[in-house]
Amino acid sequence: MLSVGSKERVALSLHSLRMSAEKFVKGKTIELRKKHIGPSCKIFFSHDPIKIVQAKGQYMYDEKGGSYLDCINNVAHVGHCHPDVVKAGAQQMELLNTNSRFLHDNLVLYAQRLQATLPDKLSVCYFVNSGSEANDLALRLAWQYTGHKDIITLENAYHGHVSSLIDISPYKFHHLSDTEQNQSVHVVQAKHSGVYGQIPVQKILHVRQAGGIFIADEVQVGFGRVGTHFWAFQLQGEDFVPDIVTMGKPIGNGHPMSCVVTTKEVAQSFTSSGMEYFNTFGGNPVSCAIGMAVLDVIEKEDLQGNALRVGRYLTGLLEEQKDKHPLVGDIRLKEQYILLSADGPHRNVLKFKPPMCFTKEDADLLVGKLDHILTELEEALGMKLHGALSVENESNKRKLPTDENGRQNPGGLAHGGGSSLGFAKQAKRISS
Ligand SMILES: Cc1ncc(COP(=O)(O)O)c(C=O)c1O
Repeated sequence: MLSVGSKERVALSLHSLRMSAEKFVKGKTIELRKKHIGPSCKIFFSHDPIKIVQAKGQYMYDEKGGSYLDCINNVAHVGHCHPDVVKAGAQQMELLNTNSRFLHDNLVLYAQRLQATLPDKLSVCYFVNSGSEANDLALRLAWQYTGHKDIITLENAYHGHVSSLIDISPYKFHHLSDTEQNQSVHVVQAKHSGVYGQIPVQKILHVRQAGGIFIADEVQVGFGRVGTHFWAFQLQGEDFVPDIVTMGKPIGNGHPMSCVVTTKEVAQSFTSSGMEYFNTFGGNPVSCAIGMAVLDVIEKEDLQGNALRVGRYLTGLLEEQKDKHPLVGDIRLKEQYILLSADGPHRNVLKFKPPMCFTKEDADLLVGKLDHILTELEEALGMKLHGALSVENESNKRKLPTDENGRQNPGGLAHGGGSSLGFAKQAKRISS
């Protein structure tokens, strides 16, 4: 007979939990997905998809117990299935969940908590359910306030999947001809403009002088991910205040919720249109309980500080790789149990957006595997490791990348220099 200790018992029960989480064998899941799910809903690693049945912290587990280091899921901001977040959601779900047309303390408490992270002027919240919904509402607020529909957006930006946002997301519409594109949308280039870029503050001031307003899309980069600040727009300077901020992804650690925060003036102008705003799920007591738990964990575990420390450490390690390898290209980390995605107009930028509990050991593991793969690849291609380094690369050794204003990338766990920003352009003044 085999005697099983408590550690083994925990491992065994986790294993059986995983087994019970699988309802079909993988082949059947793939078959049913092909049959019933829209083919444009793409899957990660489509040539050999992974079936994830459980996740914890910065790790994801497949149906066979294979454990992957997660560098993809910035949504699981404070770590997959964080017990405090799960508990907060479950406890509130046992008590009540309903829409925000009833008075409930969670709604106002959470609005107060979010407001405390923002400049005083940004004091009015609209709770919604996804990043796209938040940005669509932000556009409506901006259109109503400015009286104009023109938008300036960044090259390669992505702001969401609904019709109004496809129009302002060059990432999605760049293949369309000029006549197919919305003529009110004006695309500008910015250094580091990718899906996540930043517009220099001087340009924003010009827009404001013309009566336009500024929307900071914090859907990817908010909630401490940039490390030095809680919000990426704060990288523009301590005094800089957007007119509207949109939040999503990390806000609920995987629970679908989002928020638009604006000034009293913008909110008042929206109300003056006379149209009531109602959102069935936005700001329900369960979402608000979860949102508050996420804020608590960020604070309690100093995850913003961790993003800064580990982000800088990882940036340093990657800089060394850049110097060492002429080729940072075809990287297949999935086989090494690392989940990572590519981005950018040519899909040649590695996008690191792990949960914020990512550690220096995880960074070492990630970069060790990256180094190994690149070395093998270069050897196979017969590339010389050092001869191919460009002069420019040499001169950039160990410097952190800088943005348009010459500021250094803060080096948090964000995958870009800051938030993607869009704003309504034309002025009330111009029109009157
Ligand atoms: C910057 C940005 N804004 C908005 C969105 C849309 O968010 P959602 O997918 O939750 O609708 C995304 C999604 O990737 C995003 O990256």
